[in-house]
Amino acid sequence: MTDAHTDFSRDMSYGDYLHLDAILTAQAPISAAPDEMLFIVQHQTSELWMRLAIHELTAARDAIAAGRLPEAFKLLSRVSRIMEQLNGAWDVLRTMTPSDYTTFRAALGRSSGFQSMQYRMIEFLLGNRNRAQVRPHAHRPDDAQALEAELRRPSLYQVALAHAAQSGFAVPADVLEPSDRPHARHDEVVEMWRQVYADPATHWPLYELAEKLVDLEDYFRRWRFNHVTTVERIIGFKRGTGGTEGVAYLKRMLAVELFPDLWSVRTVL
Ligand code: HEM
Repeated sequence: MTDAHTDFSRDMSYGDYLHLDAILTAQAPISAAPDEMLFIVQHQTSELWMRLAIHELTAARDAIAAGRLPEAFKLLSRVSRIMEQLNGAWDVLRTMTPSDYTTFRAALGRSSGFQSMQYRMIEFLLGNRNRAQVRPHAHRPDDAQALEAELRRPSLYQVALAHAAQSGFAVPADVLEPSDRPHARHDEVVEMWRQVYADPATHWPLYELAEKLVDLEDYFRRWRFNHVTTVERIIGFKRGTGGTEGVAYLKRMLAVELFPDLWSVRTVL
C-alpha cells in the first residue's frame, strides 16, 4: 500500500466522522420483498437531502433578512440543485414495477410521505402554509412544535418582500405578517415586482432574488410532477397509504403556487 493511514485505534476514521454505523444500520425492511430496500433507501436519501435543504433555506432567509443578498443567492442556487438531485432520483425508483410494489405495500400500513415532517417544514419555510398539516405530527410533540414555531416566523418569501419594502417599494404591511395560510396573489405586490422586472438594471438585486425564487419553484414543481407520475405508474388510482385519494390528491398539489405574485407578474409585463 501507499502511505495511507491504516490504524484508527486512536484517530477518528471516515466511518466515525459520518456516523455510518447509525446510517447504514437504519434500513430495516419489514417484509421479505427484495424491492423494499430500494423503497427505504430512496425515502431515506430524500430525507437527507431535505435536511440539507432546510439548513440552506434557513440560512438564506437569515441572509436576506440581514440584507446579504449575494450570500442568499448562492444558498438558493444550492437548494435548486438539491431539488434537481431529488428529481433525478425518481429514475431509480421508476425501475420498481406495480408487481414489485404490491409485494410489500400492505406492510407499510398507514405510513406515507404525506407524514414527512421535513417536507412540510420546507413548504412552511417557503410560504405554502396550512396548520392542518401539523396534525399528522401530533404523536411527535417535538416535530409538531417545530412546525408550529415555523408558522410563527415570516416565510422566506415574506423576508424577500420585507427587503423590497426596505429598498423603498410599497408593500402592504399585512402581507409581511407571519401567517398559517399559503401566500395569495396580491395586486400591490404584483405591481411591486412589475416595477422590478420593468427595470432590472436599476433593481438588479431584487430582480435576481425574484429569479432565484422562481428557479426554486420551477424545480419544486418538477419534483411534484415526477412524484405523481411515478405514483400513477406504480399504483394507478388506488388510495394512498396516507389516506388521501392518491393520484387525484397529488394532481391537485400540482396547481399549488409557492410564489403566486412572481408567476402573475409574467402576464402583466
Ligand atoms: C412507490 C413510491 C411512492 C408511492 C406509491 C407514493 C405515493 C404517495 C401518495 C399516494 C401520496 C398521497 C398521500 C397518501 O394518501 O399517501 C404521497 C404523498 C407524498 N409522498 Fe409519496 N409515494 C412514493 C414515493 C415517495 C418518495 C420516494 C418520497 C420522498 C420523500 C415521497 C414523498 C411524499 C410526500 C412528501 C408526500 C406529501 C405530498 C403533499 O402533501 O403535497 N413519496 N405519496
